[in-house]
Amino acid sequence: MAGKLRMRSIDEGDFKGKAVLLRVDINSPVDKQTKRIINDNRIRKSVPTIRDLSEQGAKLVLMSHQGDTTDYASLISMHEHAKRLSEALGKTVDFIEDIAGPAAAERIERLKDGDILLLDNLRYFTEEVSTFEDSVKLDPAGMGRAYLVRRLAPLFDCYVNDAFSAAHRNAPSMVAFQELLPSYGGRLLIGELGALQAITEDPERPCVFMLGGSRAGDAFGMIQRVLSDNSADAILTSGLVGQIFMLADGLSLGKASERVIEEKGYGRYIVEAAGYLSRYRNKIVYPRDVAFERHGSREEVQVDALPQDEMIFDIGKDTVSLFAIEIERSKTIFVNGPVGIYEDDISSTGTRNLWKVVEEANGFTVVGGGDTVTSFTNFTDTTKLNYVSTAGGALIRYLSGVRLPLLEAMGRAYDRV
Ligand code: 3PG
Repeated sequence: MAGKLRMRSIDEGDFKGKAVLLRVDINSPVDKQTKRIINDNRIRKSVPTIRDLSEQGAKLVLMSHQGDTTDYASLISMHEHAKRLSEALGKTVDFIEDIAGPAAAERIERLKDGDILLLDNLRYFTEEVSTFEDSVKLDPAGMGRAYLVRRLAPLFDCYVNDAFSAAHRNAPSMVAFQELLPSYGGRLLIGELGALQAITEDPERPCVFMLGGSRAGDAFGMIQRVLSDNSADAILTSGLVGQIFMLADGLSLGKASERVIEEKGYGRYIVEAAGYLSRYRNKIVYPRDVAFERHGSREEVQVDALPQDEMIFDIGKDTVSLFAIEIERSKTIFVNGPVGIYEDDISSTGTRNLWKVVEEANGFTVVGGGDTVTSFTNFTDTTKLNYVSTAGGALIRYLSGVRLPLLEAMGRAYDRV
């Protein structure tokens, strides 16, 4: 067993000549236009487990999702992932444009010891999409009837999971194979859990949470927890999360910004945010000034000068200074979500300047989330941060005390041994 974790590590298995199904999470940010991968952090961090299993002589098959079905924007094939993995590993990772059909089965059966094959995007299957779990509640045994599991499980001797960043997804690829195959945790999964256990056990105070980005559901789940258990001394909000707090406090943002919040169905969080403001106003900070583009140039206004027609895309410099004071006085700093649209020069100033403050902070810095890590990689020297997680939603839920489906499934498999 790995530390206090209820799962076997790959050090406890013998994989020579075995057909091993390895669930990784190499879901990566892609360029909106070209659909090329713009950050390969998760790909590189998946390499140690892949290398170990292949060098031991496993017939290794990798599966992962890429993108999601909320906007289909990055729901693309895994072809480039195989190329990037091959480069990072220094060994060929083959790719097949199939997941569990006859072509994949035939190819898996032909694998030789040490070979590595990557299947196509798991989210091409409805069974695997993250939105599906909201309306269909299947337990892991029920998920054993999914096409993916029925087709693939009989082809393998064991299952390894190294996808901590998808641990919150109750999907067949994450929780069902453990019911049928001997199961192990990969190096990244066990490493992430070890590091997070260390920071959740009695973090140094003051402890500040910087929550931005556009995934309001994730942020609000965490806000609820860290306010009610008193682990947050301050919550600095930005991105859409910050805008929701501004609306909750009676500010009007302007039509363009409010439409985005409405289209994402985030109206319910405005009510929730109003409740937090009435009980915890001294701990919650939202932007004092915001930025937008007008006639091709960046402009900033104080929030009391809102609403304005253009869409808000960043925080202003006064907010950067305000947040910097909180960051500099904190002993534990958790960051999830860029403060604005970090991909364009004109809108990245806030994220760029604030991430520099985090990079230089004396407190223990923990950073997680796909876009968050990409933006830190773009703007800072990430080796100066104390802990960079590959996870976003899973990390937030873990820190929120939510039970993660993956950990439950690995625990059940461990108890059966
Ligand atoms: C992530 O990017 O957080 C993981 O890959 C899970 O993706 P999801 O939030 O789209 O399920």
